[in-house]
Amino acid sequence: TERWVLVPAAGIGARMGREIPKQYLPLAGHPLLSHTLENILSWPGIAGIAVCVADADCWFEALPEANDPRIHRVAGGAERADSVLAGLRYLEKHAALGAEVLVHDAARPCIAVADVERLMDGEAPHGAILALPVSDTVKQVRSAGETEIERTLDRSRIWLAQTPQRAPVALLRHALEQALADGVAVTDEASALEAAGFSPRLVPGSRTNIKVTVPEDLPLAEFILATRRQ
Ligand code: CTP
Ligand code: MG
Repeated sequence: TERWVLVPAAGIGARMGREIPKQYLPLAGHPLLSHTLENILSWPGIAGIAVCVADADCWFEALPEANDPRIHRVAGGAERADSVLAGLRYLEKHAALGAEVLVHDAARPCIAVADVERLMDGEAPHGAILALPVSDTVKQVRSAGETEIERTLDRSRIWLAQTPQRAPVALLRHALEQALADGVAVTDEASALEAAGFSPRLVPGSRTNIKVTVPEDLPLAEFILATRRQ
């Protein structure tokens, strides 16, 4: 099976609170997205990488990886799911029939190749994702913004979804299109597959695969990358 990587990189990084989107902020001397793309280029058996970039983005073309023939720039969308759908439509035109995709956030530069290899192991006709068991106790409130605890969830059944998330290109495109049309909240690829009635599989990941989101994540990501190089 041909395997592609789709990298949503069209966000504005509002929670980072900086002038430029977080994927272009310097991390250990290089733009964050360069780290992510170099990491992906080291994964085994990847046919190509589609990177979803905002139309107005003037930083992507300055990355050294932008000219790599394996890397394809695709126009992103308003929400993450729109960016991913645009990337999937591109892959349906450019990837082999029956191809598989690994969707990986631009904002996760610290992913370990060993975790990707475990995710790619075996068949995953209904999808598979890297995820972490929670270590904190999980409280539920009645609605967003409330502070009064309604209940404590059964922690042993809760997993935190990471990326990469793996699925057949055509299956994920159909599921995502349907979920968006139905107004389902799709914050990751698995949630679209779940809404379509499939049960993607969980593959235990690592705590070091952080999504760089807020300012204090930058030194943390630098620390993780430095540890990796030793
Ligand atoms: N993303 C995207 N298109 C969007 C929104 C997000 O491709 N319209 C990408 C981001 O660039 C990021 C990934 O999806 O690599 C995960 O999203 P998130 O961490 O939420 O990034 P941002 O949306 O940029 O950050 P924020 O929510 O703080 O604005
Ligand atoms: Mg976001």
